[in-house]
Amino acid sequence: MEPINSIIDPTSKIFSDVYIRDSKVGKDTVVSDRSVIISSAIEDKVTIGRECSLVYTSFGYGSFIGKGSLVKFSKIGRFCDLSWQLSIGGSNHNYKAACMYTDSSWKRVLGIGDGLAPVPESEYTIIGNDVWLGAKVNIIRGVKIGDGAVIGANSLVLHDIPPYAIAVGSPARVIKYRFDESVIEELIKIKWWEWDIETIREASEYLRGDLDERKLDSLKTIARERENK
Ligand SMILES: CC(C)(COP(=O)(O)OP(=O)(O)OC[C@H]1O[C@@H](n2cnc3c(N)ncnc32)[C@H](O)[C@@H]1OP(=O)(O)O)[C@@H](O)C(=O)NCCC(=O)NCCS
Repeated sequence: MEPINSIIDPTSKIFSDVYIRDSKVGKDTVVSDRSVIISSAIEDKVTIGRECSLVYTSFGYGSFIGKGSLVKFSKIGRFCDLSWQLSIGGSNHNYKAACMYTDSSWKRVLGIGDGLAPVPESEYTIIGNDVWLGAKVNIIRGVKIGDGAVIGANSLVLHDIPPYAIAVGSPARVIKYRFDESVIEELIKIKWWEWDIETIREASEYLRGDLDERKLDSLKTIARERENK
């Protein structure tokens, strides 16, 4: 299918039966079979798995989302690994009404109203940078997942999750943090995901494998050098 009213970088790879409308797709990005992208902005080097639906969503550089995921009215950071069969930014239906149909259903079935109601950006679901979501995670609309957080498989996330926390369960609760508080403070200051890609490539030995004092010191030095430039 030809993209509609969209800007698709020619280096991106769009597989079969993909529907793209009112969207932007960056360089070297992969959109796999049967995915749907509407009113969304996808940065460079992103991978969208098969049968995903992205609606009013932005994806930061290098992030990945697995097969069968639905994301609506959300902002996803850079370098995220989001597993498969996720539901991010889904809304609650009005169960106090006699009929719980959404505006989209009223429009679709009965031709009443304007359809999908716009959501203000202040109510978007936010996924930070360097976030890992396990399989089948459900994050409800408006929740903020901090940079570096981990959400365990099958979790239902109803409340904001702080940076570098590991949260699991339904409803999701923080069980531990990836690092000690002082290390987390440093990483939040370093914000390596904002570096230019060449610097990240050069720093890869400090970003990969278990973080230790030597690696953290090296990351701090790079961050300082960048500030002084
Ligand atoms: C969250 C996760 C990373 C934690 O791993 P871990 O640090 O090794 O944690 P542990 O196994 O030591 O578990 C710690 C506690 O949390 C519980 N727990 C772990 N993951 C859980 C989950 N997804 N849901 C509910 N409870 C969970 C454990 O049962 C354990 O509880 P206990 O202390 O009462 O026994 C991992 O369990 C997980 O869910 N990974 C996602 C895997 C996945 O979906 N991969 C898809 C490919 S990306």
